[in-house]
Amino acid sequence: MADMAEMAWERVMELARAPGASAIRPLMADPARAARFTHRAGDILADLSKTSVSDTVRDALLALARERHVLPARDAMARGEAINTTEGRAVLHIALRGPRHAYRVGNEYASVEVHATLDAMRAFCERVHEEGRFTDVVNIGIGGSDLGPQMAARALWRQGMPMRVHYLSNVDGHAWEAMRHGLDPARTLVLVASKTFTTAETMANAHLVRGWLRAALGDKANASLVALSTNLKATREFGVPDDQVFGFRDWVGGRFSMWSAIGLSIALACGWEEFAALLAGARKMDEHFLSAPEAENLPLLMALTEVWHVNGLGYPSRAVLPYDDRLARFPAHLQQVEMESLGKRVTMGGMPVPRATGPVVFGEPGTNSQHSFMQLLHQGTTPVPADIVLIANPDHGFEENHRLLLANGLAQAEALLRGRDASEVRAEMEAKGMSAAAIEALLPHRLFPGNRPSATLVLPRLDANTLGQLVALYEHKVFCLGALWNVNAFDQWGVELGKQLAGTLLPELAPGAAVGEHDPSTTALIAELHRLRGG
Ligand code: F6P
Repeated sequence: MADMAEMAWERVMELARAPGASAIRPLMADPARAARFTHRAGDILADLSKTSVSDTVRDALLALARERHVLPARDAMARGEAINTTEGRAVLHIALRGPRHAYRVGNEYASVEVHATLDAMRAFCERVHEEGRFTDVVNIGIGGSDLGPQMAARALWRQGMPMRVHYLSNVDGHAWEAMRHGLDPARTLVLVASKTFTTAETMANAHLVRGWLRAALGDKANASLVALSTNLKATREFGVPDDQVFGFRDWVGGRFSMWSAIGLSIALACGWEEFAALLAGARKMDEHFLSAPEAENLPLLMALTEVWHVNGLGYPSRAVLPYDDRLARFPAHLQQVEMESLGKRVTMGGMPVPRATGPVVFGEPGTNSQHSFMQLLHQGTTPVPADIVLIANPDHGFEENHRLLLANGLAQAEALLRGRDASEVRAEMEAKGMSAAAIEALLPHRLFPGNRPSATLVLPRLDANTLGQLVALYEHKVFCLGALWNVNAFDQWGVELGKQLAGTLLPELAPGAAVGEHDPSTTALIAELHRLRGG
């Protein structure tokens, strides 16, 4: 008997091959469509109607979700099963924001330990804020030990909050060079955020900054160091006092770790209440994901829409456009959450995946994106689905600006959908008095094909709670896609080779060093760098 899941895939692909499968405008003739394809989860409204997912396609996609057992797989994750099979680990970031006795891994109550750490983090934050010695916090970390906390702190920090916060991630010394001038070592608390405490870039920066503290503070420097890690042996060796180490477990993936001790910089900078509200928001989305049936489950519906775009229609990328400047780092965070999770080419069983997996994700805040890459979304050769995030109410008093921002966000989605046909473009040019010859020459350049998909997410306002919901929504979407594509969304072996080769190359770049065996291009580049650097 043919595999039921493959039959469900075939049904989706058959619908995608039908003539007009990518058309959206005809579907919009149905006045009830917008309501039928708009969903609410927590405080987030998601309008998925501006896509070519028809009712028939949606049924086929939901059938695929059932045949791929997405929701039973979700329940296995929540039971703490070792679903990250290549690393033999559970995947339990939901425990980081769950109630005290909710989640177990094996015989251990994961949640009890989570809450003990949260209590210690809270006490530490309150002590630091009360003492008032530190004005600035520097978080040294990279990937998941940087992007999530940085994104959240960028979104939530306002004047008057307890501390200024800085994120040092790039091993490029220019980053530290630019940062250190604004900092007083006596008033700077340094967090070394690294799940493994072995990441080369983070450890290089940690040594650099520890040297800067020691030069100013001597023996007292270690008191300004905090570690956020699962590797307590290494944090001790580095010199961090034990009561300034905040741990977590290997069942927290790096890109899902902003809710763990890795998020301490958010709490220090913005205050504990903000961090607690962030966790509560994520929990709200968890509750939706864990309980909503398939046809109403927003993370699943967004994942299925992505399957339609990537596999059905062959769209290889997606844009993320937050219409809120405070969410400037949200696309960067999602790049790691989505691309490190779903950039996979073999199944859970190690066989080639017979179809495309994770798309390229990129983005910038609207309205800036409109003046850079949106041209390609409107008139490029391959459609790029866009997620447009709108925040209904701002936290400033510049009402005109906000209306302009919202109008632009709505306009992009509308323009992508509608496009502009020849009669409209002709009429506009005729009204300007242009000659017939000029009109015909310009016409093809000014046409917009339309029928380009977007999803619009609306949040009532951007605060810690709604931000937590938004981030968790995408985390769960990634989970669903991993289950649909049958790939392990929780490992990242693809980052290892580059790390190893960098380790080999490092000594070869020292002055006068012998150069090992490389391909001719790399050999020539090493020689050129030696020549330019005088070595
Ligand atoms: O190189 C990829 C990665 O392993 C990410 O998955 C992780 O978030 C990042 O490096 C940082 O790792 P760590 O927190 O162990 O320093």
